[in-house]
Amino acid sequence: LHIVHIAAEMAPVAKVGGLADVISGLGKALQKKGHLVEIILPKYDCMQNDQVSNLKVLDVVVQSYFEGNLFNNKIWTGTVEAYAGLPVYFIEPQHPAKFFWRAQYYGEHDDFKRFAYFSRAALELLYQSQKKIDIIHCHDWQTAFVAPLYWEAYANLGFNSARICFTCHNFEYQGAAPAQDLACCGLDVEQLDREDRMRDNSHGRINVVKGAIVYSNIVTTVSPTYALEVRSEGGRGLQDSLKLHSRKFVGILNGIDTDTWNPSTDRHLKVQYNANDLQGKAANKAALRKQLNLSSTNASQPLVGCITRLVPQKGVHLIRHAIYKTAELGGQFVLLGSSPVPHIQREFEGIADHFQNNNNIRLLLKYDDSLSHWIYAASDMFIVPSMFEPCGLTQMIAMRYGSVPIVRKTGGLNDSVFDFDDETIPKELRNGFTFVHPDEKALSGAMERAFNYYNRKPEIWKQLVQKDMRIDFSWASSASQYEDIYQRAVARARAAA
Ligand code: GLC
Repeated sequence: LHIVHIAAEMAPVAKVGGLADVISGLGKALQKKGHLVEIILPKYDCMQNDQVSNLKVLDVVVQSYFEGNLFNNKIWTGTVEAYAGLPVYFIEPQHPAKFFWRAQYYGEHDDFKRFAYFSRAALELLYQSQKKIDIIHCHDWQTAFVAPLYWEAYANLGFNSARICFTCHNFEYQGAAPAQDLACCGLDVEQLDREDRMRDNSHGRINVVKGAIVYSNIVTTVSPTYALEVRSEGGRGLQDSLKLHSRKFVGILNGIDTDTWNPSTDRHLKVQYNANDLQGKAANKAALRKQLNLSSTNASQPLVGCITRLVPQKGVHLIRHAIYKTAELGGQFVLLGSSPVPHIQREFEGIADHFQNNNNIRLLLKYDDSLSHWIYAASDMFIVPSMFEPCGLTQMIAMRYGSVPIVRKTGGLNDSVFDFDDETIPKELRNGFTFVHPDEKALSGAMERAFNYYNRKPEIWKQLVQKDMRIDFSWASSASQYEDIYQRAVARARAAA
């Protein structure tokens, strides 16, 4: 199949969160299965150009529609070697608003227009290229415009052989805006309204994710449990649309890129190791303690890691509690992550100050990819107490590095972490510690159970660590599921033609 992903992020070129890892990891896995995969991204001024090989401007002019006029776009190409040489097209609009010259990916007052522009220009690029594309796969609200635009503005130009797949990585972000804003990319609001195709019925605003649900041939989200949750309260107003379209809606658990995340080859580690040699893991722990000036008198004191953006979704109050609880239980805690929310950032700066002279707790309030690898390797336990979590990748990475996850049972966490003490679950699946209620007491209970095994039953703990390291979290099986739904959509289209 010829598959094109249109997205706002891609690791390691333009990464804000897990979306970036999925674009690269899924793209690479599909390419490995023999499909032709291409990615389209905006040409951000702040992206990591050094991660793109052979970056160059193409000798073509693509003109795209915006607010009643046509604008030129420069088209760049290159390949991403970190992900098997995936080919990427970057769109650089020649528009006075300088949509992607903002020194940041998101958070601009005109984000809605920036990505409406990008979605239209990306489709225009595909249309003008005259390639025969089977699947156009768009992700999250930033590129959700693609689905209605394709069927309303391009299909009648004869560009209609592709099927559209839309993946929502988080239903908290729906791309809502005043109705008149939608016209900027050439969609006719009145017409869409007559058929209730894009209006958010509870707020009266335009909702782009709703448009993608209605117009796409396939709609997915990133875990089976989250797919259930969003058909009730988790859908944040879109539950009815999702129920109405549930025949084309499916939850597929993300994988992780097992080459990027491989403790036996990872160059960010002090010592590489594997499940048969946990000495190497211990060496990383000792080195990290030294580096961060943590006490190292007691080699067997457990180290709890947490790597996260500090936003309400991630259970900020429970992360705070986990720090204090770890201190109480006699463990060590390392947090890596920062917050885009000023009061949360300040709060954690306060906690960092409070523990400044405590040599068991370190808060590193920043983003640092290289250090994150080291923390996965050095930690014994890994905390993910999210309020909701569409998939979550850190719990899978943690397990691959032998750090046992302690997570709240929600979304993709519920599909990847199974409680060690839960006798209703087959023994071979049990790989971590889970809790249900989003409160301190429930989290404490799970942490106490984990500490108890770690301190009192080292042999059982070691087996758990080794088991976790051997679980297959690669993209292979998820990519097959995407392949399968793509093939079926393409077959349906052929049958109908
Ligand atoms: C979003 C979700 C996260 C998911 C990621 C990749 O960031 O919040 O749970 O893992 O997308 O799909």
